[in-house]
Amino acid sequence: MKPWQSGIWFGGDYNPEQWPKGIWHEDLELMLEAGVTTVSLGIFSWANLEPHEGEYTFDWLDEVINGLHSKGISIDLANATASPPAWLGIKYPDSKFTDQNGIIRSHGGRQNFCPSSANYRRAAQALTEKIAQRYGKHPAIAMWHVHNEYACHNARDYSETSAIAFRAWLKNKYQDSLSQLNRAWGTDFWSQRYHDWSEIGTPKVTPDGTSPNPTMQLDFARFSSDALLECYVAERNIIHRHSPGIPVTTNFMTIRGFNKLDYWKWAAEVDVISTDHYLMSNDPNAHIELAMQADTTRGLAKGYPWLLMEHSTSAVNWQPRNRAKEPKELLRNSIQHVARGADGAMFFQWRASFAGSEKFHSGLVPHAGKNSKVWREVVKLGEFLDSLEEVTGSTVSNKVAMIWDYESWWSLDQPNLPSTDLDYLNNALAIYQAFWNLNVGIDVIPPPSEQDDLSSYQLVVAPMTYLMSKETATSLSRYVSSGGNLLASYFTAISDLNDHIYLGGYPGPLRELLGLTIEEFAPLMENQTVLLSNGYEANTWSERASATTANVIASYKNPALEASVAISRNLIGNGSAWYLGTSLNRKDMHDFIAKVLKDAGISQTLVTTAGVEAVRRAKDEQSWLFLVNHTNNEVKIQAKGFELLTKQEIVGSFKLPAGEIAVIRENL
Ligand code: GLA
Repeated sequence: MKPWQSGIWFGGDYNPEQWPKGIWHEDLELMLEAGVTTVSLGIFSWANLEPHEGEYTFDWLDEVINGLHSKGISIDLANATASPPAWLGIKYPDSKFTDQNGIIRSHGGRQNFCPSSANYRRAAQALTEKIAQRYGKHPAIAMWHVHNEYACHNARDYSETSAIAFRAWLKNKYQDSLSQLNRAWGTDFWSQRYHDWSEIGTPKVTPDGTSPNPTMQLDFARFSSDALLECYVAERNIIHRHSPGIPVTTNFMTIRGFNKLDYWKWAAEVDVISTDHYLMSNDPNAHIELAMQADTTRGLAKGYPWLLMEHSTSAVNWQPRNRAKEPKELLRNSIQHVARGADGAMFFQWRASFAGSEKFHSGLVPHAGKNSKVWREVVKLGEFLDSLEEVTGSTVSNKVAMIWDYESWWSLDQPNLPSTDLDYLNNALAIYQAFWNLNVGIDVIPPPSEQDDLSSYQLVVAPMTYLMSKETATSLSRYVSSGGNLLASYFTAISDLNDHIYLGGYPGPLRELLGLTIEEFAPLMENQTVLLSNGYEANTWSERASATTANVIASYKNPALEASVAISRNLIGNGSAWYLGTSLNRKDMHDFIAKVLKDAGISQTLVTTAGVEAVRRAKDEQSWLFLVNHTNNEVKIQAKGFELLTKQEIVGSFKLPAGEIAVIRENL
């Protein structure tokens, strides 16, 4: 994945079909005024492009594409398969989405399709063929946008059509052997053994208080991610055929809480990684969550530049209470993404809709029109991004890696765990926040396989990597024995990839590396806290653990746990393996991570006031320091170079006002 353009993309989803034609001309003028470089077009246009099966109406799209091209605005053109028209479900009922209760969902929302339906696939591919054929070589097309946010509304389809496809997927995985499947799923539990393939359906809702077999659910999650991926790959291949050399993307959702697709697998099939990110209104630290998601997206892009396909200029419409962004927040959010490797800051959507269920979602052109805070900031952002052209193609490099594992997350989403507070995302976020506060950058990586070389990292973090293969454990051990540092959190390496518990003391394949053994979990109750011997305060989790070779850094002061290990460090040659067996309050987590970093010899990108985010991008011999002041105070920053937004030379230090951003081309 190489840089795919020059300049930072700026624009958003453009849905001209929602507006009378008279507005289209005004749109173009406003786009030029804002400095829009690119729009994503046609994402939800299927019903307008193919009103009846096999009948296509491209005239309106021709006009829009030519209009944009005449103004020099480039297009990320969709193949429009994200929202099937009414006729598809009526003509082919099997094309519709079935939920876990077996209910077939009605037309009127979006993404109402079953990915395994041959009728859906045929229709989606036929449309893709027509669009790609017609516009594949149009000079305005800079990128292709397949579908939209796969799995947003129909991640797991439980229909009979999917059951047939699931069985085929299972036969392939288990080499046609039902006994292999029975072993992997542990079906001698509760009389679940299968004697014929036809007995296996989709894991629909089971009697009250029970849930489907955990390994079946895990395999179904894998299958469901693969089924959608097959749809994507087939459509992408059609586009590649008609539009050689133009990159194809599909917008991922590295957004708080979304985990339905194994993006590591998907990333390998996408030419340019793009994603959508929205802040959660009720999260006071949403800007830190944003940073973690941006780092995850850069990880999916293997460190290459990626594209922020969507974020919002202000409020969204789908949360219980939709917070309007504060003044300058839009600029801070956009620059945060660019700082972390995005070569574009695009939005949903160009013009806020006046009808439909998203009519209260912000846009670049708000309902109020140009006389608005949003429009003024949009114009300013356009100018800012324009002045960042030289940054295009630069990358971010870090000394810390964090393992990110969708499969562990899927398993931890299931019921019947030791505690409902085992929360994959929040545990990782709590650890990430401490690094963010210290301005120490993190690369997000998949669970390493045996051949993966982690030696460029001085620290690898494994947060709640519940499912761990022996190969990953071996890779981590090799990394530590050759001088690396590992930090594993609680509930890591408990089960293998079939979700079978490793026996003989947790965490089976990491016991030796961590130099400890856990004999029993002792989850804490809601709001319960426990003091540790070093004065830290722990919540959520404790356990009965004893050190074999590890040095105990802190133990539980809970007499019932008889001084069990809470935090430990096992020294192996020049390397070390840290274990964090509980969840720490914010201040203590910060203190602990600072110690781990110090021991690993990792320095901060910039030593400055807490709440001032500093990230460095670099290319060839040049680097740029991105600064975002999230505090309410002006902060003095030590730096030397040229500030690209205010176009000022900085000699030694400068003052960054509250809420402001700066990008400094550094003098080396
Ligand atoms: C997603 C979708 C968009 C729009 C926005 C609203 O990101 O891709 O079509 O619905 O959400 O926030």
